[in-house]
Amino acid sequence: MSRPRLLLNAFTMNTVTHVSYGSWRRDDTRQTEFHTLDPWLELVRILERGTFDSVFFADIVGLYDDFGGGWETHVREGLQVPNHDPAALVSALAAATEHLGIVITSSVLQDHPFSFARKISTLDHLSRGRIGWNIVTSALRNSARNFDLPDRVPHDERYAWAEEYSEVVYKLWEGSWDDGALVRDRVRGIHADPSRIHKIHHRSERYAVEGPHLSAPSPQRTPVLFQAGTSDAGRAFAARHAEGVFINQGSPAAAREVIAHTRDLAAAAGRARDDIKFFQGLTVIVGSTAAEARRKAADLDESFSLDGLLAHRSGSIGIDFGGLPIDTPIGELSSAVDGTRSAIESLIRAAGGRTDVTIADFVTHKQHATRLVGAPEQIADELERWQDAGVDGINLQYAVTPGSFADFADHVVPELRKRGLAQHEYTPGTLRHKFFGAADTLPETHPARRWHGAFTPAPAAPSTPAPTG
Ligand SMILES: Cc1cc2nc3c(=O)[nH]c(=O)nc-3n(C[C@H](O)[C@H](O)[C@H](O)COP(=O)(O)O)c2cc1C
Repeated sequence: MSRPRLLLNAFTMNTVTHVSYGSWRRDDTRQTEFHTLDPWLELVRILERGTFDSVFFADIVGLYDDFGGGWETHVREGLQVPNHDPAALVSALAAATEHLGIVITSSVLQDHPFSFARKISTLDHLSRGRIGWNIVTSALRNSARNFDLPDRVPHDERYAWAEEYSEVVYKLWEGSWDDGALVRDRVRGIHADPSRIHKIHHRSERYAVEGPHLSAPSPQRTPVLFQAGTSDAGRAFAARHAEGVFINQGSPAAAREVIAHTRDLAAAAGRARDDIKFFQGLTVIVGSTAAEARRKAADLDESFSLDGLLAHRSGSIGIDFGGLPIDTPIGELSSAVDGTRSAIESLIRAAGGRTDVTIADFVTHKQHATRLVGAPEQIADELERWQDAGVDGINLQYAVTPGSFADFADHVVPELRKRGLAQHEYTPGTLRHKFFGAADTLPETHPARRWHGAFTPAPAAPSTPAPTG
């Protein structure tokens, strides 16, 4: 059976510890150099050698402050603090590469949509159409408090905010400048045609933006849109907006459910089912034999920090695991923790209904379920299982950087190429064109496209010729 190729996305963050807890202390990783340019330049060159489609930068705009009641563990572990702005890296990475897509996370909290739209258009121009945007709404309380709010905005309201924010940037990217508005006619002295550039006069609950957009349309107009979140509101948002969805499911069966359901929702919203690509988060530890890979995994486990993992999970699950014995069965959590019943229930559901599973088992289980260890052929077999569940690509998490990406590029990609699962060379063009094999701009079924041409005045009715005679 011939298979489509798997899209390859490298998952990282402009910080010390992203999701590889404790590994910053090792000699074979460049995590502590993240604040300099060199490790990033090395990384993107490796990724292009492995014909990766894109690199994706996670980002947060505040601290996790909820482990043992505070943020001290995060600081000690280098766990997403210090954390630098990924957008500031993009021009340099674009200059060092030719094909790699560069996806940055930006929260609706952190930038006014007018300045965000301008920044993204600028980067899409500079990279010749290789930019993606991971739309996030910031679940962290400290993030909210860094941006004038008293506390985190309630869950579904955050997605409503993302809807509102998206509409403003879509109007700027898609509607403000008509196609052909940039004339650059030296002879007539017309750089751009004012009749084809429009103010957007946007007014909504949070935003008032007159426009016009200050950038001329970039190669993709709207960057490739990503989202990560699988709650009901998250799936509904992805179904309407996302072209790429990052998932972190514990098994191919769980991935199959999320993917099929989100595709159904997309179809109900008038989009094509395959207008969305799904990327499963996986860590890959490859060796020339299975035994060598297992030895490497055991060596990596030596530097693993359970405190780091627990602190990160506390933040994302919404239960403070700090101060609780790690062998506490999750069934006993409700008496130990206050006010997080739904988080505990979903934890128990995720553990297959078992309440005797301990905190330590629970947090490490998922870590291991998404870690593939083996020889290249075994890794490729596992990736085929994920693909059979509907996964279009992988979101490759590192154990050490750039070593994990180099191992994948040099040892797994050749096996994937043999099986037709990886490209041998890049297709020229924008990130969107490379992903979908179609146009550089969004398809007409995407909600952003209703703004394309929407501000163009209707042509004046032909004037009735004056009666003659
Ligand atoms: C793979 C992955 C990457 C994510 N990256 C970020 C990120 O960089 N910044 C952020 O604030 N949230 C990030 N999130 C969190 C999501 O944006 C979202 O808030 C979370 O998944 C919960 O969404 P839900 O309630 O709809 O399930 C990420 C989630 C996943 C699964």
